[in-house]
Amino acid sequence: MNQHLARSLIRSLLHGQYQNSTRYVVSSFILKRCPEPLRASSSPNYFFLGVSHLGRHLSSASSAETALSEKDRKENSVTDGAKPNDSLAVNSYWGIARPNVKREDGTAWPWNCFMPWETYEADLSIDLSKHHVPKTFLDKVAYRTVKLLRIPTDIFFQRRYGCRAMMLETVAAVPGMVGGMLLHLKSLRKFQQTGGWVKALLEEAENERMHLMTMVELVQPKWYERLLVLTVQGVFFNMFFVLYILSPKLAHRIVGYLEEEAIHSYTEYLKDIDSGAIENVPAPAIAIDYWRLPKDATLKDVVLVIRADEAHHRDVNHFASDIHFQGKELKEAAAPIGYH
Ligand SMILES: [Fe+2]
Ligand SMILES: [Fe+2]
Repeated sequence: MNQHLARSLIRSLLHGQYQNSTRYVVSSFILKRCPEPLRASSSPNYFFLGVSHLGRHLSSASSAETALSEKDRKENSVTDGAKPNDSLAVNSYWGIARPNVKREDGTAWPWNCFMPWETYEADLSIDLSKHHVPKTFLDKVAYRTVKLLRIPTDIFFQRRYGCRAMMLETVAAVPGMVGGMLLHLKSLRKFQQTGGWVKALLEEAENERMHLMTMVELVQPKWYERLLVLTVQGVFFNMFFVLYILSPKLAHRIVGYLEEEAIHSYTEYLKDIDSGAIENVPAPAIAIDYWRLPKDATLKDVVLVIRADEAHHRDVNHFASDIHFQGKELKEAAAPIGYH
C-alpha cells in the first residue's frame, strides 16, 4: 500500500498534480493511523477535520484561543496568522511538510511534538491503591531498592513537588525506552514478533516524556538541576540497560514499584494544591491538548491525569514482570497498547 502511495505521489508530481496527489497521500496517511471507530465516525469527535492538503506553511489559522507560550511557539514552529514560515522551505524541497491539521473546534493544531490522534482522555477511575505485595526474593529486592531510592529523593526535594515531579520525569521516561529498544533488537535478532510490547513500552516512554514537557512549563530547572539530570541519566540509563539484559522481570518489577511511588508523590502534590501551599495555576497549553482537558483546566487537573497515567504504568510493568515470573516471554501475552 505504501509503495502504491509513493508511486501515486511521484506520478502526480511529474504531471504537475502536486496538490491533489498530496491530499490523497496525507488523507490516507491519517486514516490509516486513525482508530477504527473514528474512521467510521462522522461525530464531532472526529479530530482530523482540517487534514486536507500539504501546504508550504504550517497553518493559516490563528491559534490565539490557546495561551501558547513563546517557548511553545519557538519549539513548535507555530506561525501567527497566514504568514508562511520561511524556515520550512527546505522541508518543502524534500516533499516533507506537516499536514494542515486542526482541532475539533477548527483552530490550527499548534504542536509538532504530538498530533491529535495521539491525544486521549485519561482514565481517572483507575484504582490508585493497587499494590504488588512483594513475595519472592526478587520482588523484595525491587521493593527495597525503590524504598531506598526514595530516601535521598525526599531529603533533596522535601515538599517541592513541582520540582520533584519535573526531575523524576527525566528518569521515568528512561525504562520504557530501554525495554522497548532491547525488545526491538531481540525481535530483529530472532526474527520474531514481540506481541506489541515494543510499541507498548515506547508508548510509555513517550507518555513519560510528555509529563516532563508539561512539568517544565510549570517549573524551570536551575543550572544545578540540569547538571543533576545529566549525571543521573548517565548512571540510570546504563544501570537499567544492564539490569534489563540480566533480568527483565526484576527491571519491570522495579519500575512497577517506582510507579507506585510516583502515584504517592502526585497524591502529596494534590494535597498541597488543595491546601493552597501550591498555587493552582492554569494548566499549560500543551497539557490541555495532550489530555483533551477543558480550556479552563488547572494544575490540579493536570496532576490528576498524570497520576492516572502513572497508575497505568504501574499495571503495565507489574504485569510484564508477572509474565516473566511465570517463566514466559512478554510476546506470549498481548501487550497493553494504548493503555492509558
Ligand atoms: Fe510520569
Ligand atoms: Fe510513570
